[in-house]
Amino acid sequence: MQTNNVTWHQTSVSRNSRQQRNGHRGCVIWLTGLSGSGKSTVANQLSLALFQRGVQTYVLDGDNLRCGINSNLGFSDEDRDENVRRVAEVAKLFVDAGMVVIAAVISPMKHQRDMARKKFGANEFVEVFVDCPLDVCQTRDPKGLYKKARQGKIVGFTGIDAPYQPPAHPQVTVQTHVQSIEQGVDRILHYLNAHRTLR
Ligand code: PPS
Repeated sequence: MQTNNVTWHQTSVSRNSRQQRNGHRGCVIWLTGLSGSGKSTVANQLSLALFQRGVQTYVLDGDNLRCGINSNLGFSDEDRDENVRRVAEVAKLFVDAGMVVIAAVISPMKHQRDMARKKFGANEFVEVFVDCPLDVCQTRDPKGLYKKARQGKIVGFTGIDAPYQPPAHPQVTVQTHVQSIEQGVDRILHYLNAHRTLR
């Protein structure tokens, strides 16, 4: 591939050889959901469960990435598009390194998640809807952000005065208001197993 006088360099160590050494395939498990829905908690527990099974895994958490690579981005529609694009590109690098990436980003719009999905091969992008009603997220309000949004101290907060489009056909849905985190993680692990995603 060549664009704007930039040339893609093939490396001698291939993705395949890395995957063989790891003993599993790479993929991205993309968790989308409202703030406070439980994305980070599910991501953390899923990562731990996979790690304990010998899987090479890494969590890309929206909040964490916004402390570094995405620190120049805010929450306008354009910035969220760019935020999701960067998370997907970073995930792609990790998947090329043979790893199972767990991305936990609100990624509120369908077009953002579709854009992310397009960067990966078939069966390599597992969309997980971390589904939790807005009123439950507001009651949890773990960071006090909903309160600030209602007070007008945060403008453009997802679910309050910025949109969230729930995925229509996620591969997995985890309902954190009725299921335990363990049950949610089990559901994702079951999907990965049933679809031989890591094999
Ligand atoms: S996005 O929409 O995908 O670009 O968002 P993301 O990178 O996942 O970042 C979400 C976290 O940022 C904090 N935060 C906000 N969320 C939503 N809307 C607004 N305006 C906002 N301002 C700050 C919040 O801690 C989100 O983390 P989670 O884990 O989702 O609660």
